[in-house]
Amino acid sequence: MSDISPVSIAQVTDIHLFAKENQELLGMPTQDSFCAVIEQLKKLGSQLDLLLLTGDISGDGSPESYENLQNLLHPLQIPTYSVPGNHDCAIAMEEALNLRLFSRRKSFERGGWNFILLNSSVPEQVHGYLSAEALNWLDDQLTIVDEKPTLIAIHHPPFLVNSQWLDGSRLQNPDDFFAIVDRYPQVKLVICGHIHQEFQYQRHHVRCLGTPSTCIQFQPNSPDFALDDRQPGFRHLKLYPNGNWESWVERVPYFYQLELLATTGY
Ligand SMILES: [Fe+2]
Repeated sequence: MSDISPVSIAQVTDIHLFAKENQELLGMPTQDSFCAVIEQLKKLGSQLDLLLLTGDISGDGSPESYENLQNLLHPLQIPTYSVPGNHDCAIAMEEALNLRLFSRRKSFERGGWNFILLNSSVPEQVHGYLSAEALNWLDDQLTIVDEKPTLIAIHHPPFLVNSQWLDGSRLQNPDDFFAIVDRYPQVKLVICGHIHQEFQYQRHHVRCLGTPSTCIQFQPNSPDFALDDRQPGFRHLKLYPNGNWESWVERVPYFYQLELLATTGY
């Protein structure tokens, strides 16, 4: 990589794999739709330097679902980093993702950027929360690392998306999070999962990005739980060593029949 070439990243989120490969989530066979995303990633091939998985990798928290993930991603041969979401079992996930390509590191440097991966999941809860330990660790990391541009990945968004049902389960202590982030101008990006839709939020020097799921999509601006018929997708990011970045969402051609009468319980 030259001094000016970007690090190229795919953010892949809310995959919701199950122990049973053909199990559906609200009418969507999640492994099937994930395979459509993988086909798109294959087309990017050597362009991609790493994958960031921002939680809800599993829909049932089973070790088998994580083994399915490894088997499906292995042919890509792209270094992969991850944080858990509310549907994951953080312990099972850390134990099961044991192939060489799957790193357990939660703070690393690549292409002139720092990456910090935060666990916002709370066992048995849908909402997110950053413990005092996690907040202290974040503060420490931002102190220790130099002033290279920094990306933070976290499952639960620290912002509202104008959907009452979904906003109730966002990160519950965003003020604690931003009280730290606001003090470090090198933080450029916060990328999130959980909301199953594309979203952008600007907070001072930080752009926060929400990203579509690789399976079901949630309808934007809906006060109650509602599915959207937009296609599954992922986010492509290009991060330049000078702190500039570009990012866009890619949707994949995958068609399915939603369970339109589905109610929340997500
Ligand atoms: Fe999800």
